Amino acid sequence: MTELVIKKPNDLHVHLRQGDEMEGYALRSAEHFEHMLVMPNIKPPVASAKALAEYRRKIQDILKRHKSDCKLLMSFKLIPGMGSDTVRECLRAGAVCAKYYPAGSTTNADDGPRHPSEIAEELSELEQAGFVLSVHAEAPDSPEFSKERDFLSVIEYILTRYPNLRIVVEHLSSADAVQAILDWPERVGASITAHHLAYTVEDLVSDGLDSSLYCKPVLKTQKDREALIAAAISGNAKFFFGSDSAPHPAAKKLCLPVPAGTYTAPVRLSLLAEVFEEAKALNRLEFFASTAGALWYNLPASPQAIKLVKEPWRVPETLDGTIPCAHGKFINWQAQ
Ligand code: DOR
Ligand code: ZN
Repeated sequence: MTELVIKKPNDLHVHLRQGDEMEGYALRSAEHFEHMLVMPNIKPPVASAKALAEYRRKIQDILKRHKSDCKLLMSFKLIPGMGSDTVRECLRAGAVCAKYYPAGSTTNADDGPRHPSEIAEELSELEQAGFVLSVHAEAPDSPEFSKERDFLSVIEYILTRYPNLRIVVEHLSSADAVQAILDWPERVGASITAHHLAYTVEDLVSDGLDSSLYCKPVLKTQKDREALIAAAISGNAKFFFGSDSAPHPAAKKLCLPVPAGTYTAPVRLSLLAEVFEEAKALNRLEFFASTAGALWYNLPASPQAIKLVKEPWRVPETLDGTIPCAHGKFINWQAQ
């Protein structure tokens, strides 16, 4: 197959940042997509209805100016002490989910909870309102390769205490987490990125350190990658696409300490098509990228389609002021 037409996909996890860099990131992330769900870990964080409305307006202005019809979905960050009123106001202001970043787990996460008991009131409010808890599922103090596995017990704690709360485990990276999602009830779903499907830790470190691929959760083993691919191509609606495209300026990715995050917006559809083609599952790509996430968040399916064409292209070394994922490499598919 050299062409594939799919309904416009949804990216249910993107970082658009703020300031001058936001325009390039937002446009690149909106391109070819029906919806994008914007993460709240800017500074100061999106943690009030006012901040949410302002951030959305800034992004919407950019999209409007460039005639993009990608629809924005917003999130807000859970911070201990923010209170259930603030949660309610953020939901009323249009958030589709609340993001739980364990303290110290990733970029701008120092103000997150150390334990879910620190946001008990906020989680109850979310549960009652029927909204989604989105989780960065890593235990900050665990060894790098065990962080995700060690956080599974924290999710079980939340599942037990909040029996109606819907939870998304973001950016799955390990076979253990895939198995947990399969074992847990229907109210638990998971996003999977293109880079965790396409790469392993070997790509990060083996042929000269490629800091553009350094992200959280860190890329893992081939066994983990295979479990993620099996989940993504399975047609199980619990697993859906969220790129976690997380740009950092090139100068920062070339300096110590290197910030975590890989900028996949320019290559996410190409990587997905390569992975699904190799797994002989191109016919499942639309379900994973366009349908499953829409079902989870109750979004209308896109009335539009995009075409993916199997034509090799070379990813530039720099793009939008960053070093994109797969920089300098040839990849086989491109979106039109
Ligand atoms: O690699 C990552 N970068 N993982 C995250 O969870 C956050 C993100 C960022 O904001 O840079
Ligand atoms: Zn993220």
